[in-house]
Amino acid sequence: MRILGIETSCDETALAVVEANGGVERPRFRIVLNLMMSQVALHAPYGGVVPNLAKRAHREALAELKKQVEKSGVKLGEINALAVTVGPGLEPCLWEGITFTQELVREFKKPVVAVNHMEGHLASVLLGPPAGGEREIRFPALALLVSGGHTELVWMKQWLDYEILGETQDDAVGEAFDKVARLLGLPYPGGPEISKLAEKARAKNVRHSVSNINAIELPRPMIKSRDLNFSFSGLKTAVLYALRSAGRQTPAGGPSLDTAEVARAFEDAAVDALVFKTVKAMKAKDPRTVILAGGVSANRHLRRELERAVAAESAGVPVLYPDPAFTGDNAAMIAAAGYLHAQKHDFTSAEELKAEGRLRLTV
Ligand code: KG4
Ligand code: ZN
Repeated sequence: MRILGIETSCDETALAVVEANGGVERPRFRIVLNLMMSQVALHAPYGGVVPNLAKRAHREALAELKKQVEKSGVKLGEINALAVTVGPGLEPCLWEGITFTQELVREFKKPVVAVNHMEGHLASVLLGPPAGGEREIRFPALALLVSGGHTELVWMKQWLDYEILGETQDDAVGEAFDKVARLLGLPYPGGPEISKLAEKARAKNVRHSVSNINAIELPRPMIKSRDLNFSFSGLKTAVLYALRSAGRQTPAGGPSLDTAEVARAFEDAAVDALVFKTVKAMKAKDPRTVILAGGVSANRHLRRELERAVAAESAGVPVLYPDPAFTGDNAAMIAAAGYLHAQKHDFTSAEELKAEGRLRLTV
């Protein structure tokens, strides 16, 4: 089955054609085409995504990407189904993808699947070449979804059968990375920037030097809470206070907090909180696979620490993450999730498609 995926929920416009087989039991995917136009440069001056600018950029990019699909030799008339993100995300942006899909349906008369963006992130771990191991999820699985808009622990009994075990009470972890990056004067999106600096600081091994003016300690939010929820806005505020008080204590012109060391302290605290709650969920639920997905799953420190903690908690439970090409938003993951729904004949009529900014994985 050939599926065209359409993704416009935030600041990436993406179209992908994916060939799928194996059914819901053993889904296998081959990427035929994976196209993307990022709006990062457009939004960077504002330090975040501006919905109305994004909306217009999506419309232009979709027209351009459609041309690229046709030029590639892929015939849209030969696609078996369309899969479009309907939420969660920015509604003006989601509507662009939906309208584009409705036009394609008028032109090519194809069945449509409405896809939840977060389910796309779950399916992203099945894409790409086998990364040294299998891309096979043994159920039940526990997924840690970490992105710019979401931070949630999801219990997957099977594909299409999800329960949210815990989620952030305020900022998403990616959002916290971006906000702290802004405090440190780093460019948007800040996640990768923080991560690079933090790795540098670790390499320098400045962490335990007591006399080090740069050594800062940050709280591990929610670690004492009994539930599986997260909170990251207090951590961001703690960084702000640490920067302010260092500024006050520092004689003008003297050494101030080292940016890389602040990035390291923040990343350590954020990753500790994520890993701690994931292990807590493992203790409660006993999964056979742990999944890490979403934009922040690109973070190397998080991957390392999660792997270590999962192995210590339950030897033999694999941690699956997306191939680097599919950690961020893309349309191949939307096509993959669409395939799973198509297997269950879960189609939607094009007229009924509706953007739902706050769509959740479970209803
Ligand atoms: O999934 P995604 O591409 O878009 C959303 O659905 O939100 O996630 C984007 C988020 C941004 O906040 C970005 O800063 C963060 O993922 N991110 C990272 C890294 N790469 C991207 N955060 C930490 N470390 C990274 N290496
Ligand atoms: Zn995403």
